[in-house]
Amino acid sequence: MATTVTRRDERLLIGGEWVDATGGGRFDVTNPATGEIVGSTPDATADDVRAAIDAASDALEGWRGATALSRARLLRRSADLIRERAGEIGLIMTLEQGKPLPEAKGEVEYAASFMEWFAGEAERTYGQIVPPMNPANRVLVMRQAVGVAAAITPWNFPAAMMTRKLGPAMAAGCTSIVKPASATPLTAAAILRAIEDAGVPKGVVNLITSRSAGMVSRELFGDRRVRKISFTGSTEVGKELIRLSADQVKKLSLELGGHAPFVIFDDADIDDAVDQLIASKFRNAGQTCVCANRVYVQRGVYQQIVERLGQKVARLVVGNGLRDGVAIGPLIDDRAVDKADEHVQDAIARGARLVIGGERLTAGDLKGGNFYAPTVLDGVTDEMLIYREETFGPVAGLTPFDTEEQAIAYANDTVYGLAAYFHTRDYARLLRVAERLDYGIIGANTGIISAANAPFGGVKESGYGREGGAVGIDEYMTVKYVCVGGVGQ
Ligand code: SIN
Repeated sequence: MATTVTRRDERLLIGGEWVDATGGGRFDVTNPATGEIVGSTPDATADDVRAAIDAASDALEGWRGATALSRARLLRRSADLIRERAGEIGLIMTLEQGKPLPEAKGEVEYAASFMEWFAGEAERTYGQIVPPMNPANRVLVMRQAVGVAAAITPWNFPAAMMTRKLGPAMAAGCTSIVKPASATPLTAAAILRAIEDAGVPKGVVNLITSRSAGMVSRELFGDRRVRKISFTGSTEVGKELIRLSADQVKKLSLELGGHAPFVIFDDADIDDAVDQLIASKFRNAGQTCVCANRVYVQRGVYQQIVERLGQKVARLVVGNGLRDGVAIGPLIDDRAVDKADEHVQDAIARGARLVIGGERLTAGDLKGGNFYAPTVLDGVTDEMLIYREETFGPVAGLTPFDTEEQAIAYANDTVYGLAAYFHTRDYARLLRVAERLDYGIIGANTGIISAANAPFGGVKESGYGREGGAVGIDEYMTVKYVCVGGVGQ
């Protein structure tokens, strides 16, 4: 093992104070690689959520009234501190989430990049002066912070999905309440400690950890002071939040499930396509919303790709993310392992060929962890579960196709629309296919598309709103039109 493990017991952050939950409830955090308890965190009550909303609300006027430059400075300082602590935060992440330590440190860097990117955007929240229709008037358009915002963040990227929301919220002048997934609260606390140490005023960011996501949502959605909620998670929960948001017509951003197609045309650079497929499919053990989940390969290169992929996947080392050389960590919990296995067994029962993997791994030091072998399936068809549902695990199922038209139809045949990938060396085809794929994000000749400067988000049942990029800050701002009459010519 590369590093010493220390237990962490965290607290809530409310109005600049690190506090226990009222009533003193706590819950444990478990290492998915070993089943060991690695720390604990308060189990917040409804009173705690209300206190966090009070704190965010009290801090709002001061924060949105501060200059954009001063907010930008604090965002940059936060980015620097997050980066300085990449070793410590990465270790916490590996312990509670499972991803290999180098990948965890990479995520901390990714998390810092959102703070830095939005520091720049804070300085560019320009309004407009529009030529009036009535010559006696003047027409001003202002962009203003929407108000108190809440971020409900997932366990698969516990640092970066939080700063992807907090960065633009802070830049715009919003104050926030963060509710991380109950599996990964310790990383969230470590990031907020860095932001706090950067000198961000009390109450601008607040942390609520709780086992009751339903209770927290009801409090956030039921309070008129919370004007914006951003959620990353399943489509099923996202739909529930849309219903909850209706009562007070709250502004929502939703980054929901994906079921990404990865298309390889026979004119592609085959070696690169296989490497990019592995990078996309097996990142975070297949637990990303943008992971390749259906692989379509043109018939002329199909067998070659199946073979190469099988050979390369066989070399991926599975294990505790603290061990050097591990590429695939554990899945988040036992249910995730069950789901991956269900998809694999269903595909085999319906005629797919198992190229490699296809089993839980429990031998030696994998005992006690949630490990599943990186798997490749050949001959996946549309009646199989893996073809219809997001697996969220290290399983690649391949399907052959014949024509460009067919590849596009297969790729678009889903209710999801987050990310899609394809490989071709024909640049006319590249533009045609990119235009026709019904997705919010396209990776053309690459399997890694995530970056702070790009607008990330989906269409259809993958959600709405964009995070990152120049437009990411708009989700936390409202546009106000001011018509000044009687000015004259
Ligand atoms: C996600 O899986 O939700 C996001 C991953 C990323 O930002 O790359």
